[in-house]
Amino acid sequence: MDQQRQERIKKITQSIIGLPTLPTVITQMIGLIDNPKTSAKDVAGLISTDQALTAKILKLANSAFYGFPREIATVNHAVVVLGFDTVKNLGLSVSVLERFAGGSGDTEFDRQKFWEHSIACGVAARMLAGKLRYRVQGEAFAAGILHDIGKLILSQYFTDEFGEILALVRDEDLYIGKAEEQVLGLTHTEIGHWLAEKWNLPDKLVAAIAYHHAPGRLERDAELPSLIHLADFLCRREKIGDGGGARLPNLDPAALRAFGIHEEPKAALRRIFGYGEELQAEMERADAFTSIARGDDGEAGDGEADGGDGPDDDSDDDPTPLGGSTEGELVGESRR
Ligand SMILES: [Fe+2]
Ligand SMILES: [Fe+2]
Repeated sequence: MDQQRQERIKKITQSIIGLPTLPTVITQMIGLIDNPKTSAKDVAGLISTDQALTAKILKLANSAFYGFPREIATVNHAVVVLGFDTVKNLGLSVSVLERFAGGSGDTEFDRQKFWEHSIACGVAARMLAGKLRYRVQGEAFAAGILHDIGKLILSQYFTDEFGEILALVRDEDLYIGKAEEQVLGLTHTEIGHWLAEKWNLPDKLVAAIAYHHAPGRLERDAELPSLIHLADFLCRREKIGDGGGARLPNLDPAALRAFGIHEEPKAALRRIFGYGEELQAEMERADAFTSIARGDDGEAGDGEADGGDGPDDDSDDDPTPLGGSTEGELVGESRR
């Protein structure tokens, strides 16, 4: 719509040389995910061709995050127990995490904290998906992990500009999106959008990356971007990791409407913030992800899966709808 922005993004992205590519196995996986005819066996078969990926997936599948009491020994078994959707999205998230793992960059941008924010957003999105009855929790998790990928690109390829952006965030207490506008005339959502398309990510993930700050701009399929929008608020509020400064973005009330929430936005948001404690607890179970992001995840070596034997018994599939207690229904009305 805005030609000037189009031009700007073109100019900026053209200057990116040596763009990180996704490992072939993941590109193939994306192809499988996008194909409705794909079977669980196809996905398990593909993952099994990559030993390192297989080892990571099994490690995560056996981690406290999924909390299964018995050992999951093969990818096929993981697909049966965790579900097809979870495993394929897990494969995608893990490989992107790994692709950018480690290193802290040379600017103020702390990559560890960035990943912590992203993982928290994935964990929060998965949790809220359960509360808000968004069916595809694995997809929510992947979208959360990837939502701010544009910031990573900015930090890596536009080090000076991104340094300026972070300085504005710090010194003038600006919200990062605003600082990005000031310095680049673009935001991380646009850069992320571009990268997501370049990588051929599934359409829903592309939309989540592109619209997580303004889901209301979508005429349809706004649920996943809305979920990420809300999850982002929750992790920023809980101060987990660093999503680029302390300022909260603007709330787009469309994100609430996407889930049939017609309550006054502030009250609805307060209710969502009420899930903070639960998110913190979930985060503790998700440390297997943070260690991959730190790049200190030993390839094979450690035979035993952490936390495989003691799942906390609060099932994370808890279907309790958001705030279904005293005040009015938050999840109401048919969503389509
Ligand atoms: Fe963002
Ligand atoms: Fe974020």
